[in-house]
Amino acid sequence: MLSKRSAAFFLKSLNSSQLSSEAIRNGFVGMVGRTPLVRLNKVSQETGCEILAKAEFCNGGGSVKDRAALFLIKDAQKKGQLKPGGTVVEGTAGNTGIGLAHMCFAMGYKCVIYMPNNQSQEKIEMLKLLGADVRPVPVVPWTDPDNYNHQAKRFAESIENAVWTNQFDNTANKRAHLETTGPEIWQETGGKVNAVVFGTGTGGTLGGVGTYLKEKNPKVQVYLADPQGSVLYNYFKHGKLERSEGSSIAEGIGQGRLTNNLKDTPIDDAFLIKDTDAVEMVFRLLHEEGFFVGASSGLNVVGAVQAAKLMGPGHTIVTCLCDTGQKYYGKLFSRKILEEKGLLEAVPLQYRSSLHG
Ligand SMILES: Cc1ncc(COP(=O)(O)O)c(C=O)c1O
Repeated sequence: MLSKRSAAFFLKSLNSSQLSSEAIRNGFVGMVGRTPLVRLNKVSQETGCEILAKAEFCNGGGSVKDRAALFLIKDAQKKGQLKPGGTVVEGTAGNTGIGLAHMCFAMGYKCVIYMPNNQSQEKIEMLKLLGADVRPVPVVPWTDPDNYNHQAKRFAESIENAVWTNQFDNTANKRAHLETTGPEIWQETGGKVNAVVFGTGTGGTLGGVGTYLKEKNPKVQVYLADPQGSVLYNYFKHGKLERSEGSSIAEGIGQGRLTNNLKDTPIDDAFLIKDTDAVEMVFRLLHEEGFFVGASSGLNVVGAVQAAKLMGPGHTIVTCLCDTGQKYYGKLFSRKILEEKGLLEAVPLQYRSSLHG
């Protein structure tokens, strides 16, 4: 406990010399980016590489998608599509919606979210809590005009002062990572980064970071880590938009087409990551490193380990921890659900104390 006098002195010194303007974040919007770059000690030791991860769960809305959300809104403002009091409309079932909803509260906009009607009640409630008008619609493929993304677009077009932010094909998403995540990784590693590896949903993270770092140093290797059931691994390996076998427990990643945000990304190689490996890593990250993260983060770190094996010891490999495990508590940390999906065996026996149900 600090005495009254020393507490007063501490506060005074904070107010005067120690608080530089750099240290102060400007409201919620200022809580986007400049996330810590952390060394994952155990996997670094095992591989002989420096395996580093941007802790993206430290963004204000709790995920990597806050960066995209901010840049999508800024893009609409710049293009004159969004004036004060306007409405932001997006088709999303996850983190982009959460990021946009936070941002709308902070910036004075309304938020409308279209999502497939097979999403968990928890997600719907969370978005409602954040002020969004949530519209669950029947699950139909992208090719159907009633797909949730197309409905979001039509709705935005039907009202005044509204924008469909279009996270998949609006490259303001990729620009967020070209202008923030990529430069942060370059600066924080002192330009010593040898490779980056990310799973992709919209492709914004991999597209933006990969493009930026390749321009800084063409020798930086850019790797895609793709989950089961996505088409991207086969596309980059064999030039075919064909789904890999199975489906994945990881939310937010995996793709059925080549989005504008991923197009033209300078990808050097791709890894197909099994759910069993991603899930095992989620529990290793928790028990061995202390990080409580979701499955896409586990998959990213498995990708980083594969990159380390490919490149050999002595390299610096960067990925990200996309969001926390809290959102997936009911699924990824449920013994019953993991068992149903054939994933229980993937959780190391000694780490199963973290399961419920
Ligand atoms: C949990 C999670 N991880 C990873 C990603 C992938 O990011 P990106 O859309 O930039 O490819 C997303 C995207 O929604 C996500 O929600």
